[in-house]
Amino acid sequence: SIPKLREVFKNHFLIGAAVNPITLKREEELIKFHFNSLTAENEMKFERLQPEEGKFTFQHADELMDFAAANGLKVRGHTLVWHNQTPRWVFEDGRGGQADRDTLFARMKAHIDTVVGRYKGLIYAWDVVNEAISDKGEELLRPSPWLEIGGEEFIARAFQYAHEADPDALLFYNDYNESDPVKREKIYTLVKSLLDRDVPIHGVGLQAHWNIESPSLDDIRAAIERYASLGLKLHITELDMSVFMHDDKRTDLKAPTEQMLEKQAERYRQIFDLFKEYKGHITSVTFWGVADNYTWLDNFPVRGRKNWPLVFDLEGKPKQSFWEIVG
Ligand code: G3I
Repeated sequence: SIPKLREVFKNHFLIGAAVNPITLKREEELIKFHFNSLTAENEMKFERLQPEEGKFTFQHADELMDFAAANGLKVRGHTLVWHNQTPRWVFEDGRGGQADRDTLFARMKAHIDTVVGRYKGLIYAWDVVNEAISDKGEELLRPSPWLEIGGEEFIARAFQYAHEADPDALLFYNDYNESDPVKREKIYTLVKSLLDRDVPIHGVGLQAHWNIESPSLDDIRAAIERYASLGLKLHITELDMSVFMHDDKRTDLKAPTEQMLEKQAERYRQIFDLFKEYKGHITSVTFWGVADNYTWLDNFPVRGRKNWPLVFDLEGKPKQSFWEIVG
């Protein structure tokens, strides 16, 4: 018989999946069986919730919340302030120019008040700021309209507004390439500076978009250690394991090779063993998807190239990767 993931890991961390309106319906049974946490893959992003100023569209987000409440799942909110999937009006003055700083922060506050306020007490953790660190060289913060108009203070503001809107919600800084040694130190520097200024931040989200080759286990461990040393909670927020190594440009595969699946299973076992070592630090592990029949990686880095990065196959059946992590 098939063990439930949420039972297997109940003494370690919550086990979650990112869903969209289609997968939430199609994979309903799988979700209810295995998971105790949900994240909206897209439906709680700024452009989805407030496409026009003051016009909020909560239908899909509410449907996810209703499903979670009806089935006893927790919800992680994703995401409030990001350079991506944010409508242009947020940064514009309506006369062809750029919004000024006060206007930008007023819009940020209005958005956060409304969204976090609506789900107060229901969404227990929020990715408040997503991907604000630069991937380039020495540069600390990623260039974006948030930074350009608001200055680096935009990050602290977002956390303060979120904390005011729901003082009980756990507030996270979330990023990718989190295990790369250079980016790891930048994330550490940012989060440490927030803590030093008493900004209300409670955790670091490690997206964990990994592949069967990299990052190395040593780099993953070093990142976990470094962030944990700040005394914050760690959530693995967007886990998947691409079957393609970094330089694999093949686009003709109709199915993953045996070798890919074996390597993937071994890696999944290793990282779950690692996560379990950090009991009390890592309190949630969320997959960025449910089953291999749909993943954002089908369109990244190559549009239309199928990938198989999750632990359930195209039919929602457990893969070798599943059996290794529950083993
Ligand atoms: O809904 C529109 C549709 O109306 C339009 O016709 C179509 C044309 O391209 O686009 C549709 O929107 C797409 C959306 O996903 C919904 O499927 C966007 O193009 C597409 O860019 C968007 O991709 C999402 C991506 O974030 C955007 O940055 C992925 O689904 C989502 O998995 C991904 O998630 C991010 C996390 O939020 C943050 N960390 C990285 C992670 C992976 O990129």
